Amino acid sequence: MRKHIVAGNWKMNNGLIQTETLIVELKKQEKTSDAEVMIAPTFTNLWHAFQSAKQSGIEVIAQNMHFAENGAYTGEISAGMLKSIGIQTVILGHSERRAYFNETDESLAKKVDAALANGMRVIFCFGEELSDRKSGNEEIIVESQLKNALFHLSTDAFKHIVLAYEPVWAIGTGETATPDQAQTMHAFIRKTIAEKYGNDVADSISILYGGSVKPSNAKEIFSKPDVDGGLIGGASLKAEDFFAIVNAF
Ligand code: PGA
Repeated sequence: MRKHIVAGNWKMNNGLIQTETLIVELKKQEKTSDAEVMIAPTFTNLWHAFQSAKQSGIEVIAQNMHFAENGAYTGEISAGMLKSIGIQTVILGHSERRAYFNETDESLAKKVDAALANGMRVIFCFGEELSDRKSGNEEIIVESQLKNALFHLSTDAFKHIVLAYEPVWAIGTGETATPDQAQTMHAFIRKTIAEKYGNDVADSISILYGGSVKPSNAKEIFSKPDVDGGLIGGASLKAEDFFAIVNAF
């Protein structure tokens, strides 16, 4: 069976004290679902968060990394550095990284390779813009993002990828894809993976949905057969809301 995953992307929010406070709150929540729970604090708080969340069942993950192992890349963080503090999973390709920091499928392919070479798991984000959907090109865009950033991977390597479909028009806007829109795209993504890697791999890959998931809509979105979890932004910053989403499975 595919893993259910609910990951909280804290983005550029929470200093050290707020990070600790939120983790204390998260640890008090009751988990009634089978979903794996992850949180992605900012780089400066990863080590503290990792220590604080130990043995809580909440995995602390990173929001980004650089593709090089080390060297003259001022301001950047490598996979090896993340691994050195215990981080096993990294989010790559978030639409905000693509939009504001010029990340492309090409540079993301290098980041994916670096993460996998370091034995990390990748949550790979992708999704179309509103203009793509309006012009009916959403499947073409999504397929090209997958092909350009991931389809060079071997079957074995691809198994370490978790996909996060995040239509850009639904991120932080309060506008969610309808459960049927999410299901249609997730089914298309799974079919695209099956064509490249076969049905067994396609059936085993978790595909998360992201974009304005909240306690009020999570249950319906997660009820769709090809939606295996969520990447949660705004609603992951409140412990009760985040666990209401975790427990929506
Ligand atoms: P949101 O963000 O839940 O605030 O829309 C989702 C994301 O950016 O991953």
